[in-house]
Amino acid sequence: MFVDTHSHLTDLKYINDIEDVVKKSNQVGVKYIITSGFDLDSSKKAFEFARYHENVYASIGIYPEYAETLTELKLKELENLANDKKVVAIGEIGLQFSTGEENKEQQINAFLKQIELAYKLKLPIVIHCRDAIGTMVEILKKNKEKLIYGGTMHCFNGSKEMANEIIKLGLYISVGGVSTFKNASNLKEVLKAVPLEKVLLETDCPYLAPQPYRGERNAPYYIPTIAENLANLKNLTVEHVGEITTNNAIKLFNLEKDNGT
Ligand code: NI
Repeated sequence: MFVDTHSHLTDLKYINDIEDVVKKSNQVGVKYIITSGFDLDSSKKAFEFARYHENVYASIGIYPEYAETLTELKLKELENLANDKKVVAIGEIGLQFSTGEENKEQQINAFLKQIELAYKLKLPIVIHCRDAIGTMVEILKKNKEKLIYGGTMHCFNGSKEMANEIIKLGLYISVGGVSTFKNASNLKEVLKAVPLEKVLLETDCPYLAPQPYRGERNAPYYIPTIAENLANLKNLTVEHVGEITTNNAIKLFNLEKDNGT
């Protein structure tokens, strides 16, 4: 059994076959899927989609690229959405400094406000971080007391040291299709060393399909391919990787809270 902890099922690339995609994913053992927003509109869509699909949950938030659009009103709207039990995390939120210098302050501001929101709502955070890992770790350390509901570093692609910092903060490392790429030898070494109890699986679909599907449309039904690669790296069975990472996801996102398990 598996969980895809980060996907974008409301992307237009699924417009013709989303029900089949969800069905096929369940059939290959992906029991739960978390679909993620990146601005208010996509967060609303993610929520709506989760509401009407039993095994789908939503993560809502404003992505660093849209940091300057985060008004108090939007924060309030996010909070209202998050009152529903189908919303299991605030994200993806974070920092992306590759786009230039101009909105660094705004990004940090939006990130901090949404960490605060997650804390208030007792929800974990899903962190997006690109070219900003130093500042990211600094901010997370400074706000450690706001991270008691946990979180995950989505699409992790950092060093062993950074992985250790993230884990020390009580956060998870999310592993996706990039870990299967031939040129991902650094990441593969890091993943060998990271304890499986701190790892989540994700696709970030429709982006970043794993080998041998690289370049194609990604989907949650490729989670077993990502799990198999991780199992090979760590000399474990794919069943074991599935079991532990599923438990991790259920624990972090408080899935199954309705049926008392
Ligand atoms: Ni994403």
